Amino acid sequence: MSSNSLNRFRVRPAEPRDCTEILRLIKELAAFENMPNAVKVTETDLLRDGFGSRPFFQCLIAEANKDDAMQETDIVGFAMYYYTYDPWIGKLLYLEDFYVMDEYRGWGIGTELLKRLSQATIETNCSCMHFLVVVWNKPSIEYYMRRGASDLSTEEGWHLFRFDKENLVRMASGD
Ligand SMILES: CC(C)(COP(=O)(O)OP(=O)(O)OC[C@H]1O[C@@H](n2cnc3c(N)ncnc32)[C@H](O)[C@@H]1OP(=O)(O)O)[C@@H](O)C(=O)NCCC(=O)NCCS
Repeated sequence: MSSNSLNRFRVRPAEPRDCTEILRLIKELAAFENMPNAVKVTETDLLRDGFGSRPFFQCLIAEANKDDAMQETDIVGFAMYYYTYDPWIGKLLYLEDFYVMDEYRGWGIGTELLKRLSQATIETNCSCMHFLVVVWNKPSIEYYMRRGASDLSTEEGWHLFRFDKENLVRMASGD
């Protein structure tokens, strides 16, 4: 666990009891990205998929204090990530969601989350951290670029594709 120098917030790994708040933040980020109805996961899904015998994701939680002693806190930000594998470069950390509530931005919470993610990336011998940013989210693109991120879509021409369930069912049945 780590906290900022002014003791206004702290960052810690998520626990099963955080799933309600994690889902709230996932929905807030989806709304920020103009896709409020895209969130289909439930609290039960998060509990099973993040905290079961084979976790599919990990999560860091940022808590802001309500009092100096940090006795009472609010969950105000999170980073959801998982480890994946690239056949060219090997292990990498994929940052899936990264969000701090509007009224807590500029406190350094995002920087602390990125510090913890960078440490996790290095400690697990991953070569890099990948993430997606929607093209109109200029403040976040600039935020990442100021920290040295490269835009692989423009530099290397990658596009993100998806097979949805309908296509998968069709291919699975051999049609
Ligand atoms: C991107 C995000 C997670 C950063 O979190 P944060 O806690 O505000 O980050 P920090 O406090 O470490 O840094 C904020 C930066 O904005 C500046 N800033 C200052 N006051 C600010 C404010 N009120 N609001 C936002 N940014 C502010 C800071 O100076 C800092 O600049 P820097 O890049 O030169 O360090 C947060 O802005 C956010 O949730 N944005 C909306 C969701 C989003 O775009 N997520 C990423 C999707 S890919």
